[in-house]
Amino acid sequence: MQVTLPARLYGCPDAWARERAAVFGRAWLFLGHEAEAAAPGDWIATDLAGHRLLAVRGGDGILRAFHNVCRHRAGPLVRGSGGHCEGELVCAYHGWRYTLDGRLRAATGFGAAEGFDPRTLGLLEVRLETWRGLAFICPDAGARPLADHVAPLEALLAERGLEMAAPALRRSHDLGCDWKVYAENYLEGYHIGSVHPVLAGELGQADYRVRVDGDLVVQEAVGVNDGPQAGVWGWLWPNLGINVYRDGAMIERMTPLGPGRTRLDYLFLNDSGPGALGEALEASDRLTAEDARICEAVQANLSAGAYDTGVLSARHEAAVAWFQSRLAEIHT
Ligand code: FES
Ligand SMILES: [Fe+2]
Repeated sequence: MQVTLPARLYGCPDAWARERAAVFGRAWLFLGHEAEAAAPGDWIATDLAGHRLLAVRGGDGILRAFHNVCRHRAGPLVRGSGGHCEGELVCAYHGWRYTLDGRLRAATGFGAAEGFDPRTLGLLEVRLETWRGLAFICPDAGARPLADHVAPLEALLAERGLEMAAPALRRSHDLGCDWKVYAENYLEGYHIGSVHPVLAGELGQADYRVRVDGDLVVQEAVGVNDGPQAGVWGWLWPNLGINVYRDGAMIERMTPLGPGRTRLDYLFLNDSGPGALGEALEASDRLTAEDARICEAVQANLSAGAYDTGVLSARHEAAVAWFQSRLAEIHT
């Protein structure tokens, strides 16, 4: 029986700093759908575990990612989660201007005598790769390709003939719990009977199974979503739920905001337009509210000092055990 990670790692600034660097500084992280930045000058941006990132479509049609930080004195190039700029990125602080492929075009107000070479002060680029229209970035230049990371999920979608629909709607919810609390909750179906009465009714007596394949966790309710025609409930290390159905998909990123603070960023994909999303949104809002309530209560208890470690069920919590084992490697 595996013992859980100690409570002190949840919401603690030291653990946050280690996870920022060793998990979120090295993994492929979901940013958005490439169709959200379809035209030259369109951009999407996010703050992810303190990494402030943007992706912008260049005049050559290529989507590139950069740290959202100016090379002068660290001003932001864009603010918000998405938008459009006309042909260049302009720093909000003193107005330095960068081309859409990241070169410094003009250090506004600096004279020729300032004595630096603008070629050395381009934006700091981050790797960006796409899979089935989904754009991921990776701060680690030495990481293996995105295709390796998503290979087990790609194989499963291909086997079931599932396509990725177009982006239809984004939603976010802020939670007062560590990202690990929410991710662990996502990785087991053990709590469904207690926390999600409507879902439990829908799943009936189905045998709920969880398996791990590389960086992918797959959850299946036998007889409900395990057949050749069924959807896929997947989760990709370190923080991404990807549920793909015949008529659309729901992508859920557990975005760490700081120690003990998490944002859930949902992207709903649907080829029939936003009107077709009603039922999926209603179910998602209900499940999210139920999970948020229990996760915030768990976080409060982890912070209260009475509990140190617990135990994990090999039958129900194999994916939680796998997740915690990976994290234990960086916290030893
Ligand atoms: S910080 Fe960007 S122009 Fe000064
Ligand atoms: Fe849940």
